[in-house]
Amino acid sequence: MGMPQPWALSLLLALLPRTWGAETRPPLLYHLTAVSNPASGLPSFWATGWLGPQQYLSYNSLRQEAEPCGAWMWENQVSWYWEKETVDLKSKQELFLKALEALEAHISGQEGNFILQGLLGCELAPDNSSLPTATFALNGENFMEFNPSIGNWSGEWPETEIVGNLWMKQPEVARMESEFLLTSCPERLLSHLERGLQYLEWKEPPSMRLKARPSNSGSSILSCAAFSFYPPELKLRFLRSGLAAGPGNCSVGPNGDGSFHALSLLEVKTGDERHYQCQVEHTGLLQPLTVGLDAPAKSSVPVVGIILGFLVVIVAAAGGVLLWNRMHSGLPAPWLSLSGDDSGDLLPGGNLPPEADPQSANALPAIS
Ligand SMILES: *[C@@H]1O[C@H](CO)[C@@H](O)[C@H](O)[C@H]1NC(C)=O
Ligand SMILES: *[C@@H]1O[C@H](CO)[C@@H](O)[C@H](O)[C@H]1NC(C)=O
Ligand SMILES: *[C@@H]1O[C@H](CO)[C@@H](O)[C@H](O)[C@H]1NC(C)=O
Repeated sequence: MGMPQPWALSLLLALLPRTWGAETRPPLLYHLTAVSNPASGLPSFWATGWLGPQQYLSYNSLRQEAEPCGAWMWENQVSWYWEKETVDLKSKQELFLKALEALEAHISGQEGNFILQGLLGCELAPDNSSLPTATFALNGENFMEFNPSIGNWSGEWPETEIVGNLWMKQPEVARMESEFLLTSCPERLLSHLERGLQYLEWKEPPSMRLKARPSNSGSSILSCAAFSFYPPELKLRFLRSGLAAGPGNCSVGPNGDGSFHALSLLEVKTGDERHYQCQVEHTGLLQPLTVGLDAPAKSSVPVVGIILGFLVVIVAAAGGVLLWNRMHSGLPAPWLSLSGDDSGDLLPGGNLPPEADPQSANALPAIS
C-alpha cells in the first residue's frame, strides 16, 4: 500500500462550493470507512461528518464515540445529540465490519484486503424533506447504492449481492437505514442550521511562523507556516526588505479538526535570511500580517482540537490512499458526481515538504 494522502478526500469535500447560509443550505454527509486489515493500533472503522465544507464530527472504532470538531465543539446542542450520533455510528460500524467478514469468507483462503466506504447523508428540499445520498465503494470502486424509499441495496457487481444480501437478511437494517437518511439526517441538518449557523461562517485567523534551515551549497530554505486557520483560502508570500520576493512553494492541507494549515518554502542565499519576511492574507485577519524570522506571531483565537485533529488526520489517512491512487490512475473519485465538476486538478501536487509529511501518522498508538 502506498503512502497515505490524508488530505485528498477532505480537501475535495472542502473545495465544494461554499456559499452556505440561510438561503442555500449545505448538505450533511457522513463518510464511513472500514478496512479489513488495519495496521496495528489503527482503527478498523472510522467516520467523519460534514456540514458542507466543514467537518463537524469524527468517530472511530477505537474510541467508539462520536465527537464534535472545530468550532462545532461549542455548538449548544440538545443533550442527547452526540449520544444519538454515537449509537448510529456504532451500528454502522457493525454493519461495515460484518460486510468485510462476509467478503473475506467469500474469497476464503486468499489474502483479502478490503476497504469498504460509504457516503451517506442528505440535502434539504425546499419543504425541508430529505434529498438522500447513499452510495458505497469497495476498494475505491462504486459498487452499490441504497434506495431509502424502496429500502434496498442495488448495484451491478458480484460484491453487491454479497453485501446487499447480508444486510437484507435483517429487515430492521433497511428500515433503520431509511429512517437515518429520510428522518434523522434532515432533522440533524435543520438543528445544526438553527443552533450553529454562525459556525458555517466561522473564521479563524492563522498562527504564523517563519523559520530558516541550512540547505546545500550556500543556500538556506525559509519555511513560512500558517497553522489552524479557516476557511482554507489563504495567501502567503515572501518579502525581502519589505518588497515582494515571490510566493514560494506553497501547499495547503486540512488538520482534520475542521481547520487548515499551509506551508510555503523559499530558497535564499545563506546569510541573507534576516532580510526576509513572510506575509499572510486571510479573511480572518483585518489586514495582512507580516512576520520575521524566529518571531512567532500568535493569533488571539485559541487553537482548538489539536489532539483530536491529529487523531483524525491519522485516521483519515488510510481512507485517502484509495482515492489518491484512483485519481492517479486517471479514474474519477467515487464521490465526484456530488460536486458535478472535475475536482481531480484541485488536489495538491505530490511534492509536499517534509514538515507536512503524513508519515508522522505512525505516531498514532501514542495517542488515544
Ligand atoms: C424549513 O425549516 C426552516 C428552518 O427551521 C423553517 O424556517 C421553514 O419554515 C421550514 N420550511 C417548511 C416548508 O417547513
Ligand atoms: C431492489 O429493488 C429493485 C427494484 O424494485 C430490484 O430490481 C432489485 O432486484 C432489488 N434489489 C435487491 C438486492 O433486492
Ligand atoms: C520549489 O519548486 C521547484 C519546482 O518544483 C523546485 O525546483 C524548487 O527546488 C522548490 N523550492 C523549494 C525551496 O522547495
